Amino acid sequence: MTAVEHSRESKGDLSLPAPRWDNPSVERHPLSGHRYTSREFFNQEWNEVWGKAWLLLGRETHLDVPGSYQVENVGPESIIMVRQTDDSIKAFYNVCQHRGTRLTFSREGETENFTCPYHGWTYATNGKLVDAQDPEDFPENPCDHVTLTELRCEVFAGFIWVNMDPNCKPLRDYLGPICDDWERYNPEQWKRFTAMTVNVPCNWKVLQDNFCESYHLPAVHPQLRENHEESYLKSTFDICLEGHSRMVMQGATPSETQYGPDPPLTNGLAERLKVWDLDPEDFADRALEVRRELQKQMRIVGAERGHEHYVNLRDEQLTDAHMYNIFPNCSLTFGSDGLLFQRMTPHPTDPEQCVFDHWYYAFTPPTGAELLRAQTNIRIDGEETDHQFFDYGDQPMGIIPEQDVAITIGQQLGLRSRGFTEAKASGQEDRISWFHQTIDEYVEGLRP
Ligand code: FES
Ligand SMILES: [Fe+2]
Repeated sequence: MTAVEHSRESKGDLSLPAPRWDNPSVERHPLSGHRYTSREFFNQEWNEVWGKAWLLLGRETHLDVPGSYQVENVGPESIIMVRQTDDSIKAFYNVCQHRGTRLTFSREGETENFTCPYHGWTYATNGKLVDAQDPEDFPENPCDHVTLTELRCEVFAGFIWVNMDPNCKPLRDYLGPICDDWERYNPEQWKRFTAMTVNVPCNWKVLQDNFCESYHLPAVHPQLRENHEESYLKSTFDICLEGHSRMVMQGATPSETQYGPDPPLTNGLAERLKVWDLDPEDFADRALEVRRELQKQMRIVGAERGHEHYVNLRDEQLTDAHMYNIFPNCSLTFGSDGLLFQRMTPHPTDPEQCVFDHWYYAFTPPTGAELLRAQTNIRIDGEETDHQFFDYGDQPMGIIPEQDVAITIGQQLGLRSRGFTEAKASGQEDRISWFHQTIDEYVEGLRP
């Protein structure tokens, strides 16, 4: 048996859709403006959600040699992830144990040790204090017992995940059914071709809510109808007991809702066919067959072009958008060869602001439909992109993220109005309810 055959067998029948998740029944969650504006609720979330959930923080390939490190801020915390001499990765709070000064303001780098700018205490990359000024002036030499405060840290899908709760369960138990889906893509090999980190004046949940529903697509992103069947009746929604959710939306299909039962071959679809050496003319009056034919063709041509992960992808993973909302703050949308990474982290003190990451990872530099997602600040020479940081409005982000962010800023303004009491959500917005129910269960101490 060849490696390919073995791999196919071990991943099951690829023509079948993904197994459904737990899908417990969800009550419509009362979503009042208070949840997005109140300082008290913001503080409760900080203690009970952010202090207990696994957080997707870093990228393993950014830590290529021992001593290479990456720093990520989460609300008021700052966390250093650093490669060890045994190749493992450790995470520490970015805080000196002498009198609490932030150790480094770099975002990433390579070092033999971290030296505090205040009194020069020096820590090895394994967190141990190795040098302190005037050690004889302390009751005990601090170097004998002081270390940086370490956090739980694991790697999955090429990402570094960190948990502030020392008693947390293992990451794979936390992610549940997501692990099998993601492993099929080999995303640890993908590079980042777009990286924008943007300060946005809305609560972090307003953006995550937006990525938990596709009800907004026809009004906010009308251009997507060329390539996606937007009707919720044709999408598959799942939620899992771990607190995450998934939506699978048919791709390579013009929206029947928009174009009727006999949709035309749109320009977007024609472009996609050409990428895979299929002739759009052959599909002029059978646009609804494009999805199935593309799946077949991608299996044949994909192998020749080096897309080795296709042997593990289900047919629907070749053409359809798989959107995952990872509790609490990430939304990752997988296509066959790339993933749109959207992450919202709270402002250190203000409930009505957040930091939004709009990144794009891919197997090869994006083209066609993927380019539409990534849009700006793209490297097409195969190298990873530079990371840009700015306030919303100061630089272009690309059409789709700008459409989303503009709408969420407007929503935040309404959420603080006396004229708004509570959301009236549709059934296809249940994943928002599940997200908020999970938050409340954390806040009330029922989870994790
Ligand atoms: S606070 Fe870091 S050495 Fe004093
Ligand atoms: Fe959107």
